[in-house]
Amino acid sequence: MVNPFVEEIVSHVSTATDVPRDEVRALIEVPPKPEMGDYALPCFRFAKTLRKAPNQIARDLGERIRPGGRIARVRAAGPYLNFYVSQTEFVRETLSEILARGGQFGRSGVGAGKTVVIDFSSPDVSKPFTIAHIRSTAIGNSLCRLYEATGWDVIGINHLGDWGAKHGMSIAAYKRWGDDAAIRENPPYELFNLYVRYNAEMEKDPSLGNAVKYWTQKLEAGDAEALRLWNWFREETVKDFKRIYGLLDVTFAEYTGESFFHDKVGPVIDELKAGGLAVESEGALVVMLDEDDMPPAIIQTGHDTSVYFTRDLAAAIYRKKTYDFDKLIYTTDAGQSLHFRQLFKVLERMGYEWAKDCVHVPFGIISFKEGRMSSRRGNVIFLEDVLNRAIELTRGIVENKNPDLPGKDAIARDVGIGAVVYADLDSRRTRDVVFDWDEILNFNGETGPYVQYTHARYCSVLRRYGGAVPPSGADLSLLTEPETVAVVKCMERFPERIRNAAETCEPSLIAGFLIELCTEANRFYNAHRVISDDLPLTRARIALVYSITAVLAAGLHLLGLKAPEEM
Ligand code: ARG
Repeated sequence: MVNPFVEEIVSHVSTATDVPRDEVRALIEVPPKPEMGDYALPCFRFAKTLRKAPNQIARDLGERIRPGGRIARVRAAGPYLNFYVSQTEFVRETLSEILARGGQFGRSGVGAGKTVVIDFSSPDVSKPFTIAHIRSTAIGNSLCRLYEATGWDVIGINHLGDWGAKHGMSIAAYKRWGDDAAIRENPPYELFNLYVRYNAEMEKDPSLGNAVKYWTQKLEAGDAEALRLWNWFREETVKDFKRIYGLLDVTFAEYTGESFFHDKVGPVIDELKAGGLAVESEGALVVMLDEDDMPPAIIQTGHDTSVYFTRDLAAAIYRKKTYDFDKLIYTTDAGQSLHFRQLFKVLERMGYEWAKDCVHVPFGIISFKEGRMSSRRGNVIFLEDVLNRAIELTRGIVENKNPDLPGKDAIARDVGIGAVVYADLDSRRTRDVVFDWDEILNFNGETGPYVQYTHARYCSVLRRYGGAVPPSGADLSLLTEPETVAVVKCMERFPERIRNAAETCEPSLIAGFLIELCTEANRFYNAHRVISDDLPLTRARIALVYSITAVLAAGLHLLGLKAPEEM
């Protein structure tokens, strides 16, 4: 994406120094303080070619470059040459682009022609969706949207944990105490209860482990009854997951979970053996990774026909063949970092040069401030309970603030869920999240509801104005106050923020951006009346307000949040 202001500076400097444009462009910085200008050129790099001290070069260049056009002022400061752009030009160009592109502003094609596969959410089928799953789901969903916004083809995959001994245990528990009617009524919870109960009993009576082994082996061997039960449990649970994904507005291209790869591990194991990578160790087949300071990767144990690691190897190879991805992203908690380091290393040793395109995006854990979550079942907190509670609390707040609001249910849902999702995304993903109801639902704090509320507030200004929005022919040169310019400056950074957030897989950059924009927008709003008797000025300010709503809505979307127009 070209910034016409930077390009103009580059032209001046390149002409004056004979240094190629690309090299000059790479040197341009944004000064730490606005008083120091909008852009700065450090002159150290020219000292050799021009045979002068950097301070002298800055001074000379400052005299040679005449302001005009987009550049209002040039000033040397020590070894730096500072550029001040014409604010009128800057405001006009930036707002014109936002007005023209609306909700598309900030999107780019930098990833055009490239494909990214994002493995996210990926819960285990033997338990319901717990609060722990919000992280991978919210981060992964936001990454999908960020990559889409930068032009990539995105394939979201739910690598369900739907194979292995856990599922043998579900069958064993069902065989002992299962009640079909209860399972039908509330599948994941009932299945989870069975699972928890079995685990507890097994602690007292370890011989219960035999039935787990028995059913796991039957499952692996394709026994009809085992498969029927496994499939039933899986279908019921996935149906339940999909309801939650519906609430969160999350979709996947595929639900190819671990069971899908169960019968695809054979050729991978053969390949590992043929390449001399797999060796026998203590009755298991492993790939030694001590050269890379990692424990061995377990490829096959005595009793399982496939294990998590090998299913992941098969999955990566399958995904490369199927989607020919340029990048493969895994979003899981940091606890699985070693697993993924081992995985990528083994792929590399197998000779797959695309192993370098595989990325693990780890995140910290989520917890609740003690005693604040009432509906704990067993020792896990179900996500659905959290979402419902957020919706209920939000409904109370909305009811209080604006009792006559139409469509309160939908608003409470969008804002309640938005609060939970935003709380998950607003700090750097590797940090642990402590969930505090008062904090996340605070309409005035750094929260999802605050951003949504700010957006709704400006939508209501637009409604009050009632004219054509965006107003055509607004004279944008009337927007000169410092608060106004600050809002525009903030919005101008949106495209770059999106690219950075995608590149670093860091949705918190967007969350931070939205808070900055809300702060600047509110500063503007508190200092100036948008709708007044001065029609041309009103029109120009309405154009600004429209731009703010468009950018806020686009940013909320990137985080997976809705942007209600009223609340
Ligand atoms: N099912 C795993 C869990 O709940 C996450 C799977 C992540 N993806 C993968 N390809 N291993 O922890």
